[in-house]
Amino acid sequence: MEAKLKGRHFITTQDWTLEELETLFALAADLKTARAEGRATPLLSGKTLYMIFFDASTRTRSSFETGMTQLGGHGIYLSPDKMQISHGENAHDTAKVLSRYGDGIAIRHCAFNEGNAYLREVAENTDVPLLNMQCDFYHPCQILADYLTLKEKFGGKTRGLKLGVAWTSAPNYVRPLSVPQSLILMMPRFGIDVTLAYPPEFKLMPEIEEQAKANAKAAGARFEISHRFEDAFDGADAVIPKSWGPLVTTRDVPEGLGLIEKYPDWRCEAKHMALGKDRMIYMHPLPADRGREVTDEVIDGPQSVVYDQAENRLHVQKALMALTM
Ligand code: CP
Repeated sequence: MEAKLKGRHFITTQDWTLEELETLFALAADLKTARAEGRATPLLSGKTLYMIFFDASTRTRSSFETGMTQLGGHGIYLSPDKMQISHGENAHDTAKVLSRYGDGIAIRHCAFNEGNAYLREVAENTDVPLLNMQCDFYHPCQILADYLTLKEKFGGKTRGLKLGVAWTSAPNYVRPLSVPQSLILMMPRFGIDVTLAYPPEFKLMPEIEEQAKANAKAAGARFEISHRFEDAFDGADAVIPKSWGPLVTTRDVPEGLGLIEKYPDWRCEAKHMALGKDRMIYMHPLPADRGREVTDEVIDGPQSVVYDQAENRLHVQKALMALTM
């Protein structure tokens, strides 16, 4: 299995089989244990990953770069405004050159209807794996961490869990669709029932919602869409209340922010957490807009696992890099 994954791109979990994803989760768990025990894991000794960030990041940059160090390799942070991309160098030439030097290229590019296309152009022109650190359509590394967290919190058994994914009102900026889209695509493949709740203007890309329905049907899981916030919480085992922009409805930023402002009650509070199962956990990919998306009482409360979830970014990405690079 490991040999088969060497050199593979990772743009969306859709491109990997369940068996391949399970291989990654098994290695992530091993690497997590090794780190806890203080055992070195120099699986990428002498190897280099280029990390190109078109957008801001705290967790993704830190966990990828730290992961490369812990695997015995080196991660190089590259910012387009300091690269010749700023003078118009195209994805083709950037990909060709970086793949002559190093062993992997990772990119975050979230501009709507631009990011995924850029990643795919790099992937087509490189001999080394292209890893998606978040684009306009997908944030697959976040969802790997989310799934590892669910596995850990529910004793390794995830089939039959109910996951609520709810839109929240955070009008400070327009966030990408990539987290909810990746969640609804991957979680049903593992037999997790997903309820997605959003106000009508916050519809996800129709082709992704259709693919999520197909994935759920193939796996014998449920996938439902609701326009009631509470439906994501009712009887759930885990909830991920998180903001995204109305990008399918409008690309106009002031209009989009106005639509986000329209639903201030879409905020996770203790009364919503009471609607789930007793053991229901609160998850969020972070950064969270405290006070707007969620109250401090919830995110700092006993049901919150947000820092475990953030830590798992490191472990799943180390596994991803070790398997592909
Ligand atoms: N969750 C996540 O991707 O965090 P950053 O934007 O800080 O990388």
